[in-house]
Amino acid sequence: MKKQDNSLMEKIISLCKRRGFVFPGSEIYGGLANSWDYGPLGVELKNNIKNLWWKKFVQERDDMVGIDASLIMNPKVWESSGHLKEFSDPLVECKKCKKRFRADHINSNNCPECKGELSQPRQFNLMLKTFLGPAEERVNEVYFRPETAQAMFVDFKNVLESSRKKLPFGIAQTGKAFRNEVTPGNFIFRTREFEQMEIEYFIEEKDWKEKFELWRKEMWSWMTETLGVEKSKIHELEVAKGELAHYSKRTIDFEYDFPFGRKELYGLAYRTDFDLKNHYQEPPYRDEENNEGFYPHVVEPTFGVDRSVLAVLCDAYVEEEDRIVLKLKPSLAPYKVAVFPLLKNKPELVAKAREIYKELQKDFMVAFDDRGNIGKRYYSQDEIGTPYCVTVDFESLENDDVTIRDRDSMKQERIKISELKKYINGKL
Ligand code: GAP
Repeated sequence: MKKQDNSLMEKIISLCKRRGFVFPGSEIYGGLANSWDYGPLGVELKNNIKNLWWKKFVQERDDMVGIDASLIMNPKVWESSGHLKEFSDPLVECKKCKKRFRADHINSNNCPECKGELSQPRQFNLMLKTFLGPAEERVNEVYFRPETAQAMFVDFKNVLESSRKKLPFGIAQTGKAFRNEVTPGNFIFRTREFEQMEIEYFIEEKDWKEKFELWRKEMWSWMTETLGVEKSKIHELEVAKGELAHYSKRTIDFEYDFPFGRKELYGLAYRTDFDLKNHYQEPPYRDEENNEGFYPHVVEPTFGVDRSVLAVLCDAYVEEEDRIVLKLKPSLAPYKVAVFPLLKNKPELVAKAREIYKELQKDFMVAFDDRGNIGKRYYSQDEIGTPYCVTVDFESLENDDVTIRDRDSMKQERIKISELKKYINGKL
């Protein structure tokens, strides 16, 4: 494993701000406790990841349906799920500088910052509380969901009855989750407001090992093929029995070698029938043959959206001799193509370039740039990962063709304008 590379992280954070991937949240008011906002390019990258996930795991499968549930659910959900009682981290406080830390993240008995004496650990519940309605009274107390998962259990029967699915099948959801993390940090790695993409895959108990293995493979395929993350930077960690979440019988964490160390990217858990049993007094599923009711078991692959964005950015960031390149897979790149008129002061070139730009925009996110020299425009697109740049020159006016330049090889070729869409689509 590579040792910590703080300068790489600083470079990525700086690029993210400079080029509009991710900004500090509420910056003009001094920010807000590790909150981050996705800018114009960040939202494209994030949406591409979420859309590819939905395509792979919902659209292209027969055994999956989606939902989009409320962020705030009845507080009884969190009582039944065990989160109000169990969803906590051990917190210690420095008696000298008053800073707080997660006890399981530090290795010494003294404060990592000032070496002062630390308090005894106490359990700190991570649920983010608010009030629904005008009065801030106990009866109006509610929680923002700490995982998207619970809605898939709570809505299980409604989904079952409306979709007529049979085991094995899964429910998928993407959306925000909130946790009052003791120590948020490392850019968008650990925040108090973040996004998840989760699947609850319902099965018969006897099948859990087989399905767990199937999802393990699916997760590898997502990470290495769909996202194109370097395989050697991903590692499986079998979570020790004593460290399993309160609902899990087995969990594998998929860790990624981030510049700040090897850390959890995703998780795969066998949640047994724990959740459905907690929420339903009667078995919510009937065996087709003997009509007996039972509680399906669950395998849960879970994916953090923000950690996906971060892993993809870290993985794609390359410094070459005279340029910085984000070698993103074309399917992930915020812009698929950029269009340039060779010269800004030649109206016929600009008009032709704008015509091509408008046509390509019907199918893709496209950038348009007419500033400075072509070399600089190429490098500017390389830095944000645009896989193709198209230049309109005088020949284009006569032959209806353009130069298309490849981000990674920097090779240029001539191509008919009428072939552009097919060419780009073929690379996605
Ligand atoms: N439903 C299971 C569950 O929520 P988790 O391991 O607590 O499991 C799932 O979270 C994923 O959500 C993690 O693997 C990570 O990608 C992401 N995640 C969790 N806490 C996060 C945080 N504070 N900031 C950003 N992402 C987070």
